[in-house]
Amino acid sequence: MKTVIEPFRIRSVEPLRQTTREERERRLAEAGYNLFLIDARNILIDLLTDSGTGAMSTEQWAAMMRGDESYAGSESFFRLKAAVQELTGFRHVIPTHQGRAAERILFHVTCRPGQVVPNNTHFDTTRANIEHTGARAVDLPCAEAADTQARHPFKGNLDVGALERLIAAEGPERIPLIMLTVTNNSGGGQPVALENIQAVRSVAARYGIPLYLDACRFAENAYFIHLREPGYAAWTPKQIAQKMFSLADGCTFSAKKDAFANIGGFLCTNDDRLAEQEKGLLILTEGYPTYGGLAGRDLEAIAVGLTEVLDPDYLRYRVAAIEYLGRHISEHGVPIVEPPGGHAIYIDAGRMLPHIPRHQFPAQALAVELYRHGSIRSLEIGSVMFGDQAPHELLRLAIPRRVYTQSHIDYVVEIILEVHERRHEIRGFEIVSEPAFLRHFTARFQPVQ
Ligand code: F0G
Repeated sequence: MKTVIEPFRIRSVEPLRQTTREERERRLAEAGYNLFLIDARNILIDLLTDSGTGAMSTEQWAAMMRGDESYAGSESFFRLKAAVQELTGFRHVIPTHQGRAAERILFHVTCRPGQVVPNNTHFDTTRANIEHTGARAVDLPCAEAADTQARHPFKGNLDVGALERLIAAEGPERIPLIMLTVTNNSGGGQPVALENIQAVRSVAARYGIPLYLDACRFAENAYFIHLREPGYAAWTPKQIAQKMFSLADGCTFSAKKDAFANIGGFLCTNDDRLAEQEKGLLILTEGYPTYGGLAGRDLEAIAVGLTEVLDPDYLRYRVAAIEYLGRHISEHGVPIVEPPGGHAIYIDAGRMLPHIPRHQFPAQALAVELYRHGSIRSLEIGSVMFGDQAPHELLRLAIPRRVYTQSHIDYVVEIILEVHERRHEIRGFEIVSEPAFLRHFTARFQPVQ
């Protein structure tokens, strides 16, 4: 069969609310042209993030009823621990309320001021948590990642030569850990090859530096390895995922992505001493080590989600759905980060709107226009989010898992193509007020006159 269908049917639905263009124009002005400040009820198709926005399965809902809410030693924790260990093999599984809580605890116990943490590309919370300890977060993406149009199969790879040079320059003792983000979210949702994980692993092992995976989208990464990396076509996504984790010393994980949960995360390590320190810190802010910041029912949903996400039919559909959106806009000339990634399509707004200079935020202008024209919410990943450090002016259209159907995506394609037709009319923005920290959440803008 050529048609890749949604491998589920829908038994519980949520109405979508239409708005008029006039209403959206008013909401935009009220929100200072920042889509974070628009209420969700005024959005038709919400592609702000794939995080915590997925639809849970009947099996997940059933498992939630089994949630054991005991403060200590909950049955639900042991079910989660078994699921995580079967997948990752890590000795210690520490639940947290979401990924960034795992990051905060990990970096708090491992990083000291002046140290350096390399990664293919740090996600913004990862970078912020490292920098909060006084250490430095360094991105070492492979050379192909710099060109949004290059069609390398593993543009999420880390530049191993650059890693060697960094270790030589800093000294291994100043590098408490190396991270690999799978898939590389900030770099376009691009996968990391097993060969690259192995190469990073051997450098890390040579210098005695632990390797951690930021594993939020491990299943999508595993499926790309199955599809694209020579030697793995006969491997199941689960076998590939197990292999990925076997090369690492620990991981941070946001269960809001590849575990279909609406909340949750965990931190894993094989290091007993580190685990003790991490659990100590966990108790201060998250909770007792058998629940982290979660309810027993959340632990259940994650345990089931970790198994479901590795279903080859699901992953085939997932990757096909993202590619469908990407191809239908790129074949009409919309420049996207090539090739389509695992959880999102990224429009290269810098290329699409060359008449808008960086300091007038082309990707923000495009985000506003997609909302104004079609009530679609997307995310700027460019100079608003990263200031002068932004490598590109990207607009991310993240697809929530198992939520939107093909006709929703067809609608998104139609809106993007209509906006693309009259892209020359789109104008830039200037910031009128901004906070000191993470300005993309609350900055207010006005159109440039
Ligand atoms: N690491 C990566 C690669 C992420 O994409 C995220 C979250 C996190 C860590 C933090 O996890 O949200 O559970 O605390 N990414 C979301 C996004 C927010 O929209 O890409 P969290």
